[in-house]
Order: sequence, then C-alpha cells, then structure tokens
Amino acid sequence: MSVLPKSLSPAIVRLFNYARNPLTVLGFGLTTLSGLTLIVFLTLEVAGQVDNPYTGLFGSAFLPVVFVGGLLLMPLGILRRRRALMRSGQSADTITTYPKLDFNDPHLRRVALVIAALTVINVVVLATTSVVGLNFMDTPKFCGTVCHRVMRPEYTAYQNSPHSRVKCVQCHIGPGASWAVRSKFDGLRQVWKVMTGTYSHPIPSPVHTLRPARDTCESCHWPAKHYGDKLRVVGRFAEDEKNSASFTALLLRTGGGAYGAGQPHGGIHWWHIYADNRIRYLATDQRRQEIAWVELTTPDGKRTEFTREGANLPPADSIQNQARVMDCIDCHNRPTHLFETPAKAVDSVLQRQADLRSLPFLKREAVKAVSASYASHDQGMAAVRQSVAAFYRKSYPDIAARDGKLVARAADEAAAVYDRTVFPEMNTNSKTHPNNIGHDDSPGCFRCHDGNMKEAKGDWVIPNDCDTCHAILVDGSPSEPDLGQLALTPPAAAAPAPAEAKP
Ligand code: HEC
Ligand code: HEC
Ligand code: HEC
Ligand code: HEC
Ligand code: HEC
Repeated sequence: MSVLPKSLSPAIVRLFNYARNPLTVLGFGLTTLSGLTLIVFLTLEVAGQVDNPYTGLFGSAFLPVVFVGGLLLMPLGILRRRRALMRSGQSADTITTYPKLDFNDPHLRRVALVIAALTVINVVVLATTSVVGLNFMDTPKFCGTVCHRVMRPEYTAYQNSPHSRVKCVQCHIGPGASWAVRSKFDGLRQVWKVMTGTYSHPIPSPVHTLRPARDTCESCHWPAKHYGDKLRVVGRFAEDEKNSASFTALLLRTGGGAYGAGQPHGGIHWWHIYADNRIRYLATDQRRQEIAWVELTTPDGKRTEFTREGANLPPADSIQNQARVMDCIDCHNRPTHLFETPAKAVDSVLQRQADLRSLPFLKREAVKAVSASYASHDQGMAAVRQSVAAFYRKSYPDIAARDGKLVARAADEAAAVYDRTVFPEMNTNSKTHPNNIGHDDSPGCFRCHDGNMKEAKGDWVIPNDCDTCHAILVDGSPSEPDLGQLALTPPAAAAPAPAEAKP
C-alpha cells in the first residue's frame, strides 16, 4: 500500500489491495498482450494481409479466448484474495465491507472513467474479432486446409471444379441463422474427431445432414430457368498403340420448367425437381446406390408407386418414414467434389491436349500407373510421373530422346490426374465416391431407370429407352465432330422432314 499516494480514498486503496494477487496480475498481462496482438491482427486482416489459415485460426479463435480468459481472471483473483484476507482475519474492519462508491471523490471518478473506457475498447475489440473470425471460418481456405489431411480430397476436387469460386458454406450451410448455428456445432464435433483421430476414412458420403439442396443450389440456379438442352461431346480413347479416339455427341434433355401454359414438359429437370412434381425414393443401402421403391406425385395429386422386382421392402409405414424427397444432389452428388475414374480422367486430358495422343500407348500406361496402389498421395504422384516417363525411356527411347518435352508433359499430366482423383490416406477415389450423373461407371440414373422399376399396381415402367434422356447426335466417330457442321446437316439416321402442306 506504500506505493499508493496518501491522498487516495480508502475505497480505492482497498480495491488496489485486493487486486495485488498473482491471478489478477496474470489476467491483466494476458488481456493486455492478447488485446494488443488482436489489434495488430485485425489491422492486417482488414488490409487483406492474413492469408495463412493457421494465422487466421490463431487470430480469430486462439487470441480472443486468451483475451476473454484474462478478463475473467482479473475479478476472480480479486474475489479470491478478498476471501483469503478475510479468512486470515487481517484488518477485518477495512475488508469486511465492499468499497463504498462515492462519486464525489475525484479519484474514484477517474478510476471509473478509465474502467469504462477500457470496457468500451474491450467490447469493440471482441465484437470485431467475432465478426472477422466467423467470416474467416466461412472461407474455403479455412474449411479446406485447417483440417488439411482430412479434407484434402474434397478441397482438391473443389479447386478443379466449376464451383471453385463458390464458398464451401454456400452449398453446405446456405443462408439463415439456424443452419449457421447448427453447422458451427457440427463443426465443433468434427474438430474434436480430427483432434482425437476418430474420424472415418473416407469421410462418408452422402452427407445425411446436408441441407436440402433447393435452399442452397437454388440461390444461384433456378430450375424453372433451366432452358434448353445441354450438348456434350465426349472423347474416349482406346488402350491401343494409337490411343484410338472415339467421339460421341450427346444432346442431354435437361430442359427446364417454365415452358408456358399448355406447352409440353421440359425434360430431365422438369420431371424430377420442378416444384409441382415430387419424387420420393427409398434406398436400401447407406450410400443410396440401391433403390428399391419410388413414388411419383404429379401436379394433379396422382400418386404412383414403383418397386424393384425381387427387392426386400420394409413394411409400408417404415417406407413412408424413411423415404427421401429427390433433390438436386440425388443426381448432382459430385457437382464440385468429382473424383473421376482413371480412364475418364485420362480421356479428358487426351481430349483437351490432342498432341499427347501421338505418344504410343499413353492411355494404357497412364491408366495403369494411376490405378496402381501406393502408400501415400505424395508418393503415388511421384511414382505415376516416374512410371510414365520410364515407359518411354525403355520402350520408345527414340521418342523419349526426340520428344523429351512432350513425354515430360505426359508424365506431369498423368501425375496431375492422380493428384486430383486418388487419396490413399483418406481412402477416397472414384470407387468410394461414385458420380450419379450417367450410368456407365456406377448405376447413376439407372438406379431407377434400368427398366426394372415397375408400377406396383399396373404396368408403368420408369423408362429406359436410350433416347429418353439424350439424343445421340454422333456415335463413336474417330474424328472430333465439327459442331457447326452438325447444326447444318441433319443426322443421317433421322427421318426426312415431312413435306409442308401448302394450300
Ligand atoms: C457447389 C456446391 C458445393 C461446394 C461449393 C462445396 N461442396 Fe462439399 N459437398 C457438396 C455436396 C452436394 C456434397 C454431398 C455429396 C453427397 O451427399 O453425396 C458434398 C460433400 C462434401 C463432403 C463429404 C465427403 C464427400 O466427398 O461427399 C466434404 C468433406 C465436403 N463436401 C467438404 C467441402 C469443402 C471443404 C468445401 C470448400 C473447399 C466444399 N465442400 C464445397 C457440395 C459442395
Ligand atoms: C454461389 C452460387 C452457386 C451455388 C450455391 C451453386 N452453384 Fe452451381 N454453378 C455456379 C456457377 C457460377 C456455375 C457456372 C460455372 C462455369 O460455367 O464455369 C455453376 C455450374 C454448375 C453446373 C454445371 C457444371 C458444368 O460442368 O458445366 C452444375 C451441374 C451445377 N452448377 C450444380 C450445382 C448444384 C447441384 C449446387 C448445389 C449443391 C450448386 N450448383 C450450387 C454457381 C453456384
Ligand atoms: C434427375 C437428375 C437431376 C436432378 C434431380 C437435377 N439435375 Fe441438373 N442436370 C442433370 C443432368 C443429367 C444434366 C446434364 C448433364 C451434365 O451437365 O453433365 C444436368 C445439368 C445441370 C446444369 C448445367 C446446365 C447446363 O446447361 O449447362 C445445372 C446448372 C444443373 N443441372 C443444376 C441443377 C440444380 C440446381 C438442381 C436442383 C434444383 C438439379 N440440377 C437437379 C440431372 C439432374
Ligand atoms: C429415384 C429414382 C430416379 C432416379 C435416380 C432418376 N430418375 Fe428420372 N424419373 C424418375 C421417375 C419416377 C420419373 C417419372 C416416370 C416416367 O417418366 O415414366 C422419371 C422421369 C424421367 C424422365 C422423363 C421421361 C419421360 O417420360 O419423358 C427423364 C428424361 C429422366 N427421368 C431422366 C433421368 C436422368 C438423366 C437421371 C440421372 C441423372 C434420372 N432420371 C434419375 C425417377 C428417377
Ligand atoms: C435415365 C436417363 C438415361 C438413359 C435411359 C440412358 N442414358 Fe446414356 N447417359 C445419361 C446421362 C445423364 C449421361 C451422362 C452425360 C454426362 O456425362 O454428362 C449419359 C451418357 C451416355 C454416354 C456417354 C458415356 C461416356 O462415355 O461418357 C453414352 C454412350 C450413352 N449414355 C449411351 C446410352 C445408351 C446406349 C442408352 C440405352 C441403353 C442410354 N444411354 C440410356 C442418361 C441416360
């Protein structure tokens, strides 16, 4: 007490007396230090200088915890010391009562002013940090890299997808406070699982807690505005010496919804997701790959049930409880985390980079290297590159010498295919996460459209004809179709247009 000026009121003296304890001093130190660091962090963050996710995590989660912890320690220390002093019977007369606050005392007024100012600063610092911190935790960088090893497959695929500029949270959480809160709790559970190493490999799919896709996807894509069909040209390459090409042009009948009164329906999207049609289904496996029961409700309210022949169906009431309303992700389950099969991934490289096709057996060698199993992702990438380059050095030394650059690029591309699609540490690849759009590598559309999904009381079958979903405009042409020409010349097989009746 000797350090304090003599003129201080007894109330303030008592407060200082209580505050002189290790806990309060520690709290004061922690709050001051973390507060100052937070101010530096916020300044850098606002200036756009915080790029590293770990710095972000430090600034937006660790520092505020220390800051608040320090704030709490200060009064805690004061209370403890007061109790200890009272118990030891020291100067009982001065400590048994709480300090009397007399605001006529100029010293007390000054102390109160300082405390008030500090509180305002604290509140401002904390509020800003929470906003910046919550925003930061919504960035793809945070989601994809803080749990780096775990989310690496999804993050890598995402970066190579048409949605690489869409934030993770726009699909996974969407707008609205309740989903944000729910997801933060879910996130805490996940962080715990990562810390304790109890997460599953791979991260299971489908995500059973995913928000209904209509709330998320439809904030950007409006199904009633899916006009027109989608033209796709796919190049497939054989595993022969020439990597023989075969191109197919498909017109996918995606259509739309709003075709106007009395107009015919608009195809794939109209049938499954246009607001007036409802399809529900029951899958008998966790992955939703085996579908046993389907229900279609049309705008006139008519319900039709389809069942798979020979399927083991649960009793009717549990079907009703478990059935899922079909939405975007029942088809687009890989809109952004697509792990292509080795063959398709190599094909898309060969389709885009025609000069690589001149390297003999490139398709075969690249697929072989990517399909082999390796202990780790990084080791696999290196081995794939090495294996493709070694093949040309050994089997085609003249090509390796003459076209060294081309061979090196082929080896790099094969390694990049591996990098995008195979993740041994997380046991994630095209087999563990199949794509539901299509029907060749996994059942996809044929989960319902395989011709065996029949009306329970009737003879309606969910259609399977090849032209239900697409028109095949070019079928297996060895050369890339010229789409401009395609538009001008009608397909040879098409029936001649009927002569117009003229009066
Ligand atoms: C365009 C929308 C979209 C974006 C953007 C998106 N996701 Fe996903 N994600 C999905 C869908 C849809 C599924 C569910 C697939 C299913 O249920 O079959 C999914 C599934 C996942 C899964 C579960 C495992 C799996 O592969 O199915 C993880 C993990 C994941 N996403 C992480 C992320 C991360 C991290 C980001 C950001 C870097 C992100 N997602 C961005 C749509 C998206
Ligand atoms: C924040 C806006 C946004 C959200 C949310 C979003 N998308 Fe997209 N999506 C886009 C944009 C923009 C493109 C076009 C990208 C391009 O053409 O390069 C796109 C493209 C697509 C494509 C075409 C891809 C291709 O290969 O041509 C599909 C399919 C798709 N989105 C489905 C979905 C699904 C399913 C969801 C919900 C799980 C979703 N999107 C959520 C913005 C969004
Ligand atoms: C029954 C399956 C199915 C459902 C359900 C479905 N789609 Fe599609 N969608 C397709 C198919 C098939 C294509 C064309 C194939 C492709 O793009 O590779 C497509 C294409 C698209 C495209 C690209 C269109 C273009 O012309 O480039 C977008 C965007 C899209 N869908 C969004 C959605 C959204 C959003 C939903 C949910 C509201 C949805 N889809 C529901 C099957 C479906
Ligand atoms: C969960 C079951 C289910 C899945 C999966 C499914 N469909 Fe369907 N689909 C239906 C039902 C039910 C109908 C309406 C019955 C009918 O048209 O005979 C339908 C109708 C259609 C129609 C309209 C057919 C007509 O009569 O003109 C098209 C086109 C179509 N589906 C395409 C697709 C495509 C493409 C996929 C995969 C991307 C797909 N469907 C996946 C259940 C499904
Ligand atoms: C229920 C709808 C549906 C039916 C029925 C259907 N397809 Fe498809 N088909 C698709 C979709 C969707 C794709 C994927 C397009 C994409 O990759 O974007 C596809 C892709 C293809 C491809 C290109 C495959 C590749 O190499 O990528 C071929 C070839 C094909 N279908 C042939 C057929 C034939 C032959 C039949 C008749 C036995 C048939 N389809 C029936 C929906 C259907």
